[in-house]
Amino acid sequence: MTRQDQPDKVMVELIKIGKSYPPDIEALKDVSLTVAKGELLFLTGLSGAGKTTLLRLLCRIEHPDRGLVEIDGMDIGKLPGKKMQHLRRRIGIVYQDFKLLPGQSVARNIALPMEITGRQKSFIRKQTRTLLERLGLKGKKNTRAGDLSRGEQQRVAIARALCNKPDLILADEPTGNLDTKNSERVMDLFNEHRNRGATIMIATHDSRLYGLGEHRVVVLANGYIIGAGIKRELLQTEEALHE
Ligand SMILES: Nc1ncnc2c1ncn2[C@@H]1O[C@H](COP(=O)(O)OP(=O)(O)OP(=O)(O)O)[C@@H](O)[C@H]1O
Ligand SMILES: [Mg+2]
Repeated sequence: MTRQDQPDKVMVELIKIGKSYPPDIEALKDVSLTVAKGELLFLTGLSGAGKTTLLRLLCRIEHPDRGLVEIDGMDIGKLPGKKMQHLRRRIGIVYQDFKLLPGQSVARNIALPMEITGRQKSFIRKQTRTLLERLGLKGKKNTRAGDLSRGEQQRVAIARALCNKPDLILADEPTGNLDTKNSERVMDLFNEHRNRGATIMIATHDSRLYGLGEHRVVVLANGYIIGAGIKRELLQTEEALHE
């Protein structure tokens, strides 16, 4: 599917994206990708392949050197600050390094994006409680985020990304520190958000995650997309990279 076919069904459109870092690291050389509304898409590839860079371009944390990034039909390179701020509120981001406020409680970390979007106190309380329960963090509400284990911090980061029911979820290695049970909890939540219509892009090395279910897997290498398809053939492409 392309934007030309069905413009209102496309959530993410990348056209011929190039992105370098100084002095001369070409993280992405020529990447084009269309993601439909409601799609769950996995982004994989070796360490350094450009997965995080790609996700960061989608929320304008990074800017491409060339090419076009469109989210829900909007060219984000041209969006004025206010409109970008509005769009950012529709995006839930799980950062690879979590980016929690270490001195604040777990509950406060999760509540913050909901407070920013003006949610009612009762909604915030309920959402926080539900997410903590669903992610196996029930007793941790008042713990300082900085005192949590890495796996617990990762789950708080996931709760924070999901609390506002975003239209687009960008999750960077969201299960990198989690055991199987917690990875399943996370995938169950992602699938529920997908069922309500959210678009989800997950960067991961974890083939257990993308090995189940029907969804596209996109493989990045050397700044290009070298394969895209449903899981089985992509698992082979990914394995070939490690040989
Ligand atoms: N801020 C930066 N400054 C310089 N180089 C960078 C920067 N961010 C990323 N890079 C480089 O760009 C390339 C792509 O990095 P990126 O973090 O996107 O890869 P990745 O696929 O997410 O890797 P990983 O699986 O290890 O998370 C790497 O060579 C990396 O060293
Ligand atoms: Mg990364």
